[in-house]
Amino acid sequence: MGTTLLGTGAYLPSKVLTNEELEKMVDTSDEWIRERTGIRERRIAEKESVVDMAYEASKEALKNAGVKPGELDLIILATLTPEKRFPATACLLQARLGAKGVYAFDVSAACSGFLYALDLADAFIKSGKAKKVLVVGSEKLSEAVDWTDRSTCVLFGDGAGAAVLGDGGGEVLSSKMYADGSLEELLYAEKCGFIKMKGRELFKQAVRSMAKACQEVLAEVGVKPEELSLVVPHQANLRIIKALAEKLNLPEEKVFVNVDRYGNTSAASIPIALHEAIKKGRLKRGDLVLMTAMGGGLTWGASLLRY
Ligand code: ACO
Repeated sequence: MGTTLLGTGAYLPSKVLTNEELEKMVDTSDEWIRERTGIRERRIAEKESVVDMAYEASKEALKNAGVKPGELDLIILATLTPEKRFPATACLLQARLGAKGVYAFDVSAACSGFLYALDLADAFIKSGKAKKVLVVGSEKLSEAVDWTDRSTCVLFGDGAGAAVLGDGGGEVLSSKMYADGSLEELLYAEKCGFIKMKGRELFKQAVRSMAKACQEVLAEVGVKPEELSLVVPHQANLRIIKALAEKLNLPEEKVFVNVDRYGNTSAASIPIALHEAIKKGRLKRGDLVLMTAMGGGLTWGASLLRY
């Protein structure tokens, strides 16, 4: 018995913001954005709050898992755009779900937030402290970007993804999470401020750190890259994803990509991608899936899961 992905869900706002529309807002071009990032469009939450999106994704994950909100032991929500300074967005979600009394808290690890939360959920389940855990990534990055700064505003989008975890036939085989606060200046936002980024340096850090974390989890359990059914990397930039695949010696068809449609949704990016991969039939029970992320902190990590 191990930590199993019982069900997943996602929510994407219906409002689409295309590269062509961005051309009218800042000095950029569809060609530049596609060539440098692979992004064609992203979603913008016009009416939805971070909690609204988390709620919709969670409802779907709970339904797919066949778990009722009251059966949960723990809710962990990862976000860099919390609804309020406090209480935690996880508590607001808990109330909305009607999961009264369930232990709930937020994780702040930027784009690595979902993997950090998954790692915690696994530890709670392995220790016997929790049987069923809801892990959510929900982000309203449109509130955190400066829409006059072309170097960042073209990269991000809004959305939420969720996963229900519990005992079952699956397993988190290995996970390695890291942080280096001395690299804060590469990517940060002041309290109530906009996202600031040193893109070029971050690009190199992202490829290097994710590749190393992936190699470590694979080595720990003696799994070869060719034994993986799918890799679900954080969706920040198609060039980063391609460089990572090359370093790991993985064919492109084994790497899930949806950055073209949603841009970088930070903590929501991996659970949205995981949900889409499952819906598309790209993961079957028993398959090995490797997830990896890098984000502000800097934080990074990788997690190897038997689905
Ligand atoms: N449109 C047109 N030109 C632009 C734009 C734009 N939107 N943005 C920047 N440029 C210009 C720059 O001003 C620069 O011009 P110059 O040469 O005259 O100075 C030129 O394009 C090249 O800029 P670079 O920043 O060097 O471009 P690069 O190829 O590095 O691509 C990018 C930039 C896409 C940001 C890339 O560096 C990247 O993806 N970095 C990593 C981002 C990342 O991984 N983030 C993950 C974590 S996110 C999180 O945790 C929230």
